Amino acid sequence: MSGNNRGTAVLKTGYAFNRAFPLLTRKKVETSFELRNFKKSDETALAAVINETWGLKSSPKNAELALRFGYAYLYYNLAYSSFRVVAEYNGFASGIVCAGRRNEKLPNLGYLAKAISYALPLFFCREFRSQIAAWKKFFKVTAANEANMAKEYKGRLYLLLTNPSCRGIGMGKKMLSSAEEYFILNGMDRFYLHTDTECNFRFYDSVGYKKVFGSVVGSGPNPWEIYLYANK
Ligand SMILES: CC(C)(COP(=O)(O)OP(=O)(O)OC[C@H]1O[C@@H](n2cnc3c(N)ncnc32)[C@H](O)[C@@H]1OP(=O)(O)O)[C@@H](O)C(=O)NCCC(=O)NCCS
Repeated sequence: MSGNNRGTAVLKTGYAFNRAFPLLTRKKVETSFELRNFKKSDETALAAVINETWGLKSSPKNAELALRFGYAYLYYNLAYSSFRVVAEYNGFASGIVCAGRRNEKLPNLGYLAKAISYALPLFFCREFRSQIAAWKKFFKVTAANEANMAKEYKGRLYLLLTNPSCRGIGMGKKMLSSAEEYFILNGMDRFYLHTDTECNFRFYDSVGYKKVFGSVVGSGPNPWEIYLYANK
């Protein structure tokens, strides 16, 4: 990693109370985070953030199984990425960005094996069947979008995620900038990503990325939509 890896922001929800006027005065607290490479000890914190963001709202019966989703999803994305950067806040991994070369033929086999070992029991669990059917749809649409994507797009952003309690303080943008830097330094000035209506896809609109493909999956008043965005 290169460049400035620190981010500082005023945490809008945090307050320090003045001793003399504890109930009357409140002061905004300055907070900071640091970007660094992923390490194994980050896995539990990051899997929890993944579960909180996209995981099953499971019953206690399958709670342990449900936790596996976060680990499997994390290691799957790590396996296909060569750029794996974490945002550390208050000593905890609170965000992650994963990026790599499009159509990387050889994933990291250690990470892939972990993803498979975490995911395998999920395929035999009844509660996950509808989730698995949804993932199949997602992979079908994204594979088709990817096949139609122009060859100049050489890079792919695999994962961008921040802890819900750290959103809105500049962490996501800072991690995205570090991935942009990685793409440029490695000759991939055009790159893309897959997202959908279960994600905060409007973040990419806000940073000026463009929607290249959009597919409606399902029906009803708020159907699920899957998108491919590109940086330019
Ligand atoms: C997307 C995500 C990583 C953004 O991280 P973040 O740390 O909250 O973002 P930042 O604080 O760095 O950036 C916030 C900026 O984006 C803008 N933004 C974020 N979400 C937005 C939205 N839904 N609509 C419009 N603007 C949005 C903010 O207005 C802010 O702009 P500003 O810097 O001009 O004030 C975070 O929301 C997240 O993890 N979401 C769940 C996972 C996800 O959806 N990942 C991406 C799609 S796969």
